[in-house]
Amino acid sequence: MKNLLGSGEAAAPLSSVDAYAQWAAHYPPHAHNALMQAEEACMLALLPDMTGQTVLDLAGGTGRYGHIAMQRGAARVICTDNSIDMLAHNALDTRIGADMDALPMRPACMDGIICALAIGHLKRVDAAMQEIARVLRPGGWALVSDFHPYAYMNGARRTFTGSDGRAREVEHYVHALSSVINVGHDAGLRLEAVREPGVPDAVAPPAMRGKPVVVAYRFAKP
Ligand SMILES: C[S@@+](CC[C@H](N)C(=O)[O-])C[C@H]1O[C@@H](n2cnc3c(N)ncnc32)[C@H](O)[C@@H]1O
Repeated sequence: MKNLLGSGEAAAPLSSVDAYAQWAAHYPPHAHNALMQAEEACMLALLPDMTGQTVLDLAGGTGRYGHIAMQRGAARVICTDNSIDMLAHNALDTRIGADMDALPMRPACMDGIICALAIGHLKRVDAAMQEIARVLRPGGWALVSDFHPYAYMNGARRTFTGSDGRAREVEHYVHALSSVINVGHDAGLRLEAVREPGVPDAVAPPAMRGKPVVVAYRFAKP
């Protein structure tokens, strides 16, 4: 699991902010490992037509999905993240430092939201899901992905090479699929699809062959 998803061998986990401060300069805005490739393939399959839309790349880091949204015809993309370091390495025009639990935006201002591989850094998902529901316009859509609980419970960890050259683990909190779905429902979002892809057997550690490594949800705001 070490090369693909990280193993439990790294030093004590870093907070998300501390980890991405170190990782930012080496975090390219494209899928850079097998987990991200699996995640991106299923997220792209869930993406609606976004031609002319205003799209929020929420906790967008260096802007992977913001760039995809621009390539797919979005009229405007806003990227928010609570890591100033990640935003400093983000080439999108509109970047805002913001916690996803409290977005500095008026209600119903977004046609669509993409929140990729970030909710696992939150202890609780309630506030972020409520913010997604609040800033989406009626009829809007939201795609949310996360490191899969199955992977974490089987020993996979979110790791990167720190500035000292050592493997470092990033804090991660397991969110059961039902809790994300129920919190979304309570916030006013309707679940439209869930996907749980794995990685190819050739790169999966034995415990993860044929098992999910990420989960992707598509919600709609009625
Ligand atoms: C694994 S990276 C994913 C970045 C990007 N969404 C992507 O898929 O390429 C997780 C991102 O979530 C951000 N993040 C973590 N906790 C956050 C919070 N509470 N509010 C906003 N962003 C947060 C991190 O700074 C980091 O940029």
